[in-house]
Amino acid sequence: MSGQIHLEPRARVPAAVLTGFDVSPAFAGPSRFKALPMPDLTYTDEIARLTAPLYEKVKSVIPPVEWPFHAPYVAAINRLKRERNAVILAHNYQTPEIYNCVADMVGDSLQLARMAVASEADVIVQGGVHFMAETSKLLNPHKTVLIPDSRAGCSLASSITGADVRLLRQRYPGVPVVAYVNTSADVKAEVDICCTSSNAVKVVESLGADTVIFLPDQYLARNVARQTKVRIIGWAGSCEVHERFTASELNEYRAAHPGIEIIAHPECPPDVVDVCDFTGSTAAMIDYVQTRRPKKVLMVTECSMADNVAAETPGVEFVRPCNLCPHMKRITLPKILDALVYMREEIIIDPALALRARRSVQRMIDLR
Ligand code: 13P
Ligand code: SF4
Repeated sequence: MSGQIHLEPRARVPAAVLTGFDVSPAFAGPSRFKALPMPDLTYTDEIARLTAPLYEKVKSVIPPVEWPFHAPYVAAINRLKRERNAVILAHNYQTPEIYNCVADMVGDSLQLARMAVASEADVIVQGGVHFMAETSKLLNPHKTVLIPDSRAGCSLASSITGADVRLLRQRYPGVPVVAYVNTSADVKAEVDICCTSSNAVKVVESLGADTVIFLPDQYLARNVARQTKVRIIGWAGSCEVHERFTASELNEYRAAHPGIEIIAHPECPPDVVDVCDFTGSTAAMIDYVQTRRPKKVLMVTECSMADNVAAETPGVEFVRPCNLCPHMKRITLPKILDALVYMREEIIIDPALALRARRSVQRMIDLR
């Protein structure tokens, strides 16, 4: 494989403005729904009894002393989901009490997008970051999509705007543009197709071009470039969680834990990927652990995921350097409860922009 990549420095694109995650015309506005009464959140014997089977699922990662705080929220959220005909779609990085106790569907970005299409509920509450909620809304224009905290951004999504993509197109006329789903609807509206970490190479090659613009993750772009003959023009964005891992740190873990299997997300720099035994999306990493059952494993990714996998795979020992995604961690049980009580914060996307953005997500979903 050629591994050819040219990285487009952000500063070389004139007028590139980096304004934060809320670059999209999508916004979270005041609720147009009637609020329900806030449930009583006392930890009673009845709540303890009702939530005991759920605590069983997480007892290896949540100490008993913490459960009386979570349990009243878990019980109230599960009841309100039925009242609102709502589902919770949770990303693999959500904390164990969300992932295991209130989520209806869990997965990586591609799985969540597919699940959003399949859902029959009236309301989708996104346990994840803003771009994920936007993607759910793009795919469900007639449903109500709520994000429990609209400040849950992503360093990749905030690294590029739709205006940047238009400038790149001027600079490279005719070159197709692939956007990682970790982008705003504003960016998705300007590109040819989206991809996730689980289908990036396939999406790039599906375009039949010898050169492709791939944005905004420079490391994913480099990792893709090593697996294809297509020449890649990248963008200097990065995930603030995955770029912190280093090859030397992982080599030290390997030396300290003989026989350990080290698996990484492709948002990590290529020299980190090089010292790992496997690289894949969050769902592929989970599948690796569940099917191969290594004696000892280190997951080079956001650290709640190791808790979630550990809860489901007794017998596997996890070595856990903990890099948290501060954006994912903005989503909590109290905020999910508020979302269901007050029906906030709703994702609203300008219909004309949504139509263009939906095309690039749908084109990815249609690629089997
Ligand atoms: P996945 O699609 O692999 O779940 O990745 C999403 C993400 O944000 C990783 O940081
Ligand atoms: Fe974005 Fe990185 Fe957080 Fe994933 S882990 S949501 S890529 S900042």
